[in-house]
Amino acid sequence: MSFLSAGVASALSIRAPALAAGPGPRDGDAAAIVGTMTTPSSSAVPPPIRWGILATGRIAHAFATDLALVPDAELVAVGSRSITSAQRFVEAHRAEHPGAAVYGSYAELVADPTVDVVYVASPHSLHLEHTRLALEAGKHVLCEKPVTLTAADAEEMVALAREHDRFLMEAMWTACHPVIRALVTGLREGRFGTPRHLHAELGFVVERDPDDRMLDPALGASALLDMGIYPLTFAHLVLGEATSLQATADLSERSIDRDVAIAGRYPGGALATMTASITSWSSRTASIATDTGRIELSDFHHPTSATFTPYGGASTNDDSALESVVAIEGAEPVIGRGYGNEIVEVGSCLRAGLRESPLVPHAQTLTLMRQLDTVRAQVGVVF
Ligand SMILES: NC(=O)c1ccc[n+]([C@@H]2O[C@H](COP(=O)([O-])OP(=O)(O)OC[C@H]3O[C@@H](n4cnc5c(N)ncnc54)[C@H](OP(=O)(O)O)[C@@H]3O)[C@@H](O)[C@H]2O)c1
Repeated sequence: MSFLSAGVASALSIRAPALAAGPGPRDGDAAAIVGTMTTPSSSAVPPPIRWGILATGRIAHAFATDLALVPDAELVAVGSRSITSAQRFVEAHRAEHPGAAVYGSYAELVADPTVDVVYVASPHSLHLEHTRLALEAGKHVLCEKPVTLTAADAEEMVALAREHDRFLMEAMWTACHPVIRALVTGLREGRFGTPRHLHAELGFVVERDPDDRMLDPALGASALLDMGIYPLTFAHLVLGEATSLQATADLSERSIDRDVAIAGRYPGGALATMTASITSWSSRTASIATDTGRIELSDFHHPTSATFTPYGGASTNDDSALESVVAIEGAEPVIGRGYGNEIVEVGSCLRAGLRESPLVPHAQTLTLMRQLDTVRAQVGVVF
């Protein structure tokens, strides 16, 4: 059965034989808080969603590895600018994905009638062109983040998806992560108090060739676009839409932002500080101070641990007043590194005949793209 036709409505059954478990309670945890979002289940085993991967770089490998952990998803084709790269890619994943077709061009990949949905994993500056190619060929698309370089291009991409009546989703795996969903649900239900301050930072030292996409302005190099989109998305998910953003950055000799710091104001007067870097080893942590305690996350963009420490009426930071630390756990397992959960989300949406994901709606993607535009204008980077 093909998912090219709209309105295929069957519920998703998640079997989890090879799934990595999410973070469990730590020693001394008094309790575990679990997200309340549930996934529909069905006794009928749905036919697999058939994926094509467009581009064979680093993230495509990680994606293919997690795809193999999703039982009702199948890699049926891989397309590269070079047939040799496509063959090498398929060879590297042969054990997980036997029988994937190999194409030496993206055009041939999107023309493959067995492909339901194309995962666009090329550099940001080419996402619009490659997503257009897939949509025009009648394919649904999961497009890597950021979906484009500018909000105007992102609007064009969304319009194209509507015009062709295809599903389109930004590959914002953070929003699909079970622990992030549990955190957002818990905050909405008031279980962690009211957030007042949020801090999130992401960065690592990029030592690559000057023509690598992470350093080459022509391919969209930017700490903001590569890393900064995560703290901004995290703050958006947790605090709502920013009412103002103020940024400062250090630019490279090639005029790309290599370090950026952003201060944000959010509904209710909550404040956020967010950083991104391609020159330094960030902690990759996030913390949220609420009026009843403190939330802390490791690797916040795909949390490996998340806890809430209630302050139980204490009026100072006296640690003796702390109540037990509580683990924040997802309602579902984390699949692989977490890319598996976004793959499940795409499958769930396609089976329900949706054209956008409730977890990563177009409006959210466009809001974040406008925020990236705003920050870039403030720090003086022009594409
Ligand atoms: N979600 C995440 O966790 C995550 C992590 C890393 C990156 N990303 C995103 O994924 C995208 C790709 O990142 P990556 O780290 O995988 O990049 P990468 O390793 O540089 O791979 C990009 C691939 O794009 C293809 N490509 C097409 N035209 C190209 C050109 N002119 N120059 C260079 N490559 C070209 C190439 O594949 P072929 O040679 O096979 O055509 C290349 O291998 C970016 O938008 C990035 O933001 C997301």
